[in-house]
Amino acid sequence: MYGFIQALFGRKKSTKKTVTKDNNEKTEEISPSLPSERKNYSSSKKYNQKGKQHFSAGANKGKSRMNKPLKDRSLEKDEESIDINRFIVDVSGISWDDIAGMDSVKEELQEVVALLKPSKETQEAIEHYNIETFKGMLMYGPPGCGKTMVAKALAAECNATFYLINGPEIKTKWIGESARVVREVYRDAQNNKPAIIFIDEIDSVCMSRETSSISETTRDIVNSLLTTLDGLQEMDGVFTIGATNRPELLDSAILRSGRLGKGVRIDLPAEEARRGILEAKYSKIPLADDIQIDELVESTAGYSGADIAGMVSDSARYAWRRNNHQAGGQVSREDIEKALRKGSSVSQECVAGYKRWEQYAFQ
Ligand SMILES: Nc1ncnc2c1ncn2[C@@H]1O[C@H](COP(=O)(O)OP(=O)(O)OP(=O)(O)O)[C@@H](O)[C@H]1O
Ligand SMILES: [Mg+2]
Repeated sequence: MYGFIQALFGRKKSTKKTVTKDNNEKTEEISPSLPSERKNYSSSKKYNQKGKQHFSAGANKGKSRMNKPLKDRSLEKDEESIDINRFIVDVSGISWDDIAGMDSVKEELQEVVALLKPSKETQEAIEHYNIETFKGMLMYGPPGCGKTMVAKALAAECNATFYLINGPEIKTKWIGESARVVREVYRDAQNNKPAIIFIDEIDSVCMSRETSSISETTRDIVNSLLTTLDGLQEMDGVFTIGATNRPELLDSAILRSGRLGKGVRIDLPAEEARRGILEAKYSKIPLADDIQIDELVESTAGYSGADIAGMVSDSARYAWRRNNHQAGGQVSREDIEKALRKGSSVSQECVAGYKRWEQYAFQ
């Protein structure tokens, strides 16, 4: 099956070396990245000295759980080795309004809000229709299109504690302990409900077990994650979101209902979303009067949200340089044309690959 999924994306396998706890090297088969480059996550950039992540945008938007006392420090005995607080992220600086476009995604996620924070009426309706509640979902799509942003806004909307587990980080930083870290995060989440556990780059901790040269360590992590997710049925108020740019690498068992049975594709931003991102970004940057946002909306077709954000800041930097680093200038057409030369980081082939994959995965 793995081979079949690979064929859907038309990519070849390659290998990578990992170092196990006892310092032995293992070689794992992996696919080349769906996007042209795989992002390099650096935890040190994101954590402050207390080990918590912070957002700079909009100080008082949304509601924060950061100050909420953890009700049960049941992990005290392990605190020296695992500080669960480092997985909790402040989402108070983000809300649905910061996410341009994506109306259908937001609408779909309203069901999650209803499940995590059910009003009396919602609860009655769920019981009336005997709705089978779901405890997790998979967000997939090209890089830089808002998966992380959407998950954070969702947590803010539900006033939920947001735990961020970075797949590659827990695999490399907690060698031999990754499974325990995941379990501990879930245990903590149970004491801080409602909670959303966001597993970023979930493909790295839930790689297909059919991959022939998968290491025993990775296999253990996958098994443990699946078992942990099975336990979710008993955990009301804890919701898991897995995110990936590489869904074809996932072990298909993760997609069973009861685990991450619901899939949400986060696509390249459509016209309205691009307009929203451009307007928001250029609202803080002086733009020459002869430039219309509408023409930029057209020029950025096929760009990811991150590409657009990068293009805008590049154009501002070019203007700054052109004006000899002095204040008072404006971003000109010439600056924008230069910034647009980089183009989109996401190919059409890559976008089509997600659609082919989902037809197969959620059939
Ligand atoms: N719909 C959107 N509205 C506003 N900004 C957006 C939107 N989509 C993307 N962006 C911008 O792109 C940046 C990257 O978004 P985000 O990190 O959520 O993407 P991602 O899908 O999680 O990427 P990756 O797969 O690389 O983790 C955001 O910080 C934001 O500046
Ligand atoms: Mg992300």
